Amino acid sequence: RPGTTARVPLPVAELHLHVEGALGPDLLRSFARLNGFGTAFDGTDPEPEFVDLQSFLDRRDGDLAVLRTEEDFHELGAAYLRAARAAGVVRAESFIDPMVHLQRGVPVEAVMRGFGSAFAEARATGMSCDLIVCFTRDLGAEAAEATLDAVLPFREHFIGVGLDSAEVGWPPSLFRDVFARAAADGLRLVAHAGEEGGPDYVREALDVLHVERIDHGLRAMEDAELMARIVDERIALTVCPLSNVALRAVPRMEDHPLFAMLELGARVTVSSDDPAYFGGQVDANLEALRAAGATEAQLETLARNSFDAAFVDEAERRALT
Ligand code: ADE
Ligand code: ZN
Repeated sequence: RPGTTARVPLPVAELHLHVEGALGPDLLRSFARLNGFGTAFDGTDPEPEFVDLQSFLDRRDGDLAVLRTEEDFHELGAAYLRAARAAGVVRAESFIDPMVHLQRGVPVEAVMRGFGSAFAEARATGMSCDLIVCFTRDLGAEAAEATLDAVLPFREHFIGVGLDSAEVGWPPSLFRDVFARAAADGLRLVAHAGEEGGPDYVREALDVLHVERIDHGLRAMEDAELMARIVDERIALTVCPLSNVALRAVPRMEDHPLFAMLELGARVTVSSDDPAYFGGQVDANLEALRAAGATEAQLETLARNSFDAAFVDEAERRALT
């Protein structure tokens, strides 16, 4: 692009990123060849059109078929962390979905050891990063309980639990008991809410699950009282602008509720959600906001908020920024 200069990416903490969503077309093809799928994925559209969250989840689940072994998960985790570092991420709190892989016959152990060792290796080279295990909400509460049981033997590999996948019809209150058990185990708590579900889902995530951050939270903006509380209690919202436009939760970037959330003084942060599918890493998300009118001061606030909302202690926080 003539006339543009390469920017040094703004340092941020990326708090809403699904490692499985970092499986880009090159890695997809190489895992496909390695694992006996031949050239079946060669023609796969690298930038598909989505109409909603479910259309993305269906496409992603098809792609994930190529991941089979512990080494595959290790390589995918390492590839994400390399790309994230280049995009300015100095702290990563990253989601994984063990149940999605178990559903297609991959043992939880391969997922946890593969992703876990990639994150441990990156930590050893000075990157601040940790995993958060997500419960796949449309598999239900019993599956979530089974997930927690299955991952607890790998407790050293993750710091918290989350709730993701198809939202509507799967309210947070269904997961009360499993979140209580995770909290009792000392795990940090987050949940997707208000991406497609209404403000009641956000309220339940706070009141019933006692989560510390809300992933997305867009539709909380329909409820002024709820937003006042989110501002008052300094509850972080991990917003993913390119994802929201791609999945049509928001019509155009210029109309993104993030701008109004910032005006209210909410602790908004920016992340990439599934960077291989929605147009790039966190730096591309910040760039898209800039192109839609975000000021330098707003971008700096978003970066500062990301560190304030990260699950790190004061000493680590100072070392990061
Ligand atoms: N899994 C991956 N990306 C997601 C999103 N944006 N919402 C819910 N679940 C997801
Ligand atoms: Zn997400």
